[in-house]
Amino acid sequence: MIYNSIVDTIGNTPLVKLNNVTKGIAGTIVAKVEYFNPGNSTKDRMAIKMIEDAEKAGLLKPGGTIIEGTSGNTGMGLALAAIARGYRCIFTMADKQSQEKINILRAVGAEVIVCPTNVSPEDPRSYYSIARKLNKEIPNSFYPNQYDNLSNTAAHYETTGPEIWKQTEGKITHYVATVGTGGSMCGTAKYLKEQNPDIVTVGIDTYGSVFKKYKETGIFDEKEIYPYLTEGFGEDILPKNVNFDVIDLFIKVTDKDGAVGARRLSREEGLFVGWSSGSAIHGALEYAREHLKKDDIMVILLPDHGTRYLAKVYNDQWMKDHGFLETRAFGSARDIIASRNGKDSLHTVNKATTVSEAIRVMSREGIDQIPILEHENFVGSVHASSLLERIIQDPQLHTKTVYDVMDKPMLFVAPDSTLDVLSSLLNKDNKAVLVRDELDKVHIITQHDVLKAMSS
Ligand SMILES: Cc1ncc(COP(=O)(O)O)c(C=O)c1O
Repeated sequence: MIYNSIVDTIGNTPLVKLNNVTKGIAGTIVAKVEYFNPGNSTKDRMAIKMIEDAEKAGLLKPGGTIIEGTSGNTGMGLALAAIARGYRCIFTMADKQSQEKINILRAVGAEVIVCPTNVSPEDPRSYYSIARKLNKEIPNSFYPNQYDNLSNTAAHYETTGPEIWKQTEGKITHYVATVGTGGSMCGTAKYLKEQNPDIVTVGIDTYGSVFKKYKETGIFDEKEIYPYLTEGFGEDILPKNVNFDVIDLFIKVTDKDGAVGARRLSREEGLFVGWSSGSAIHGALEYAREHLKKDDIMVILLPDHGTRYLAKVYNDQWMKDHGFLETRAFGSARDIIASRNGKDSLHTVNKATTVSEAIRVMSREGIDQIPILEHENFVGSVHASSLLERIIQDPQLHTKTVYDVMDKPMLFVAPDSTLDVLSSLLNKDNKAVLVRDELDKVHIITQHDVLKAMSS
């Protein structure tokens, strides 16, 4: 058979039994391996559907430009569809995304604009805002908005759901997927629950995202939002494609557990998958260990391919630098925090604080640097020495707000980060790092703390 173009090969991905990572667990656990799509991710399905629906609705006309805020995979799907149908693509992307993803999009002809990660979605610099602005400015442009465009959910309702139902001969009992825009979880879950309402659906969320708390309490809690490393899922907004009625429960997975999970799928199953697939497997196994029974069949959607994470999850040095590969030769961030006997408190200032007030706080507390908060989010930092240096050049600086002059936010590191990792991260550009403990309390670690711990 000859396909008319590459986009006609989207879908019909295989379902593969997991044999090793599942040892000791009752029931059958299988993976829907979405990297078999031509753009190597599940997002191809909704990308082509959003374009087809927009063409039908007259929103996208010949010669038009597609503009989207994407973490990479949707961009790839849109770029393939754009080539097949003759459109131009411009994508805005958060700067935490891997360089590979940016390069891949450029390789398939898209223009990519990289925007800061640690700003609120309403901030004019965010990748959501920039995409909207370009859409207003460029004539004959179409902004698919994968978050709120229900063609996203429909694509999975029409393809992923029926495929899984057929491939398991209607025997599926549990469906597990990460939740970003929500399309791959909710479209599939809606279809499956219509066939059999007893199917249990488990959404995988990250620490730093709002979904789990919102599902459990109905509260959109901004305190749940903080920077995390995993790419592609978890959100600081409630996209229209997330239909909480078809997700029975959420499990949160840490950056580290996701990264380790991806490496396990590669090594133990030969499935060379991306980071979020590792998060999906970690959460799924956590649930399965407790709840799965002998005759149950759990299907886990694995969203994308490992090539996009070669510089991160599949790079041992990167894993060590982030405390994800444990080498406990020295102590760890956790030991430094424990040595304070609960007496440490993190000093912060709000973004509207003036430079002179921030300097007063630092000198009163005897600290050299301070993180800057906007609605509980860590959006930047200032350092006494660099502020003083700049005030000498510009005496008016002290009346400005810290937001006007701030440096980038301090890095968050895992509590298990070892002293050698901490010392490699602390340098002239990063004077301190932050650690969020299991009780959600944030601690600061400076070069001085690391030196003290190494010499004790
Ligand atoms: C790598 C990766 N994992 C998970 C997801 C989440 O999928 P969805 O947007 O369908 O919720 C995405 C979406 O962009 C992704 O790119």
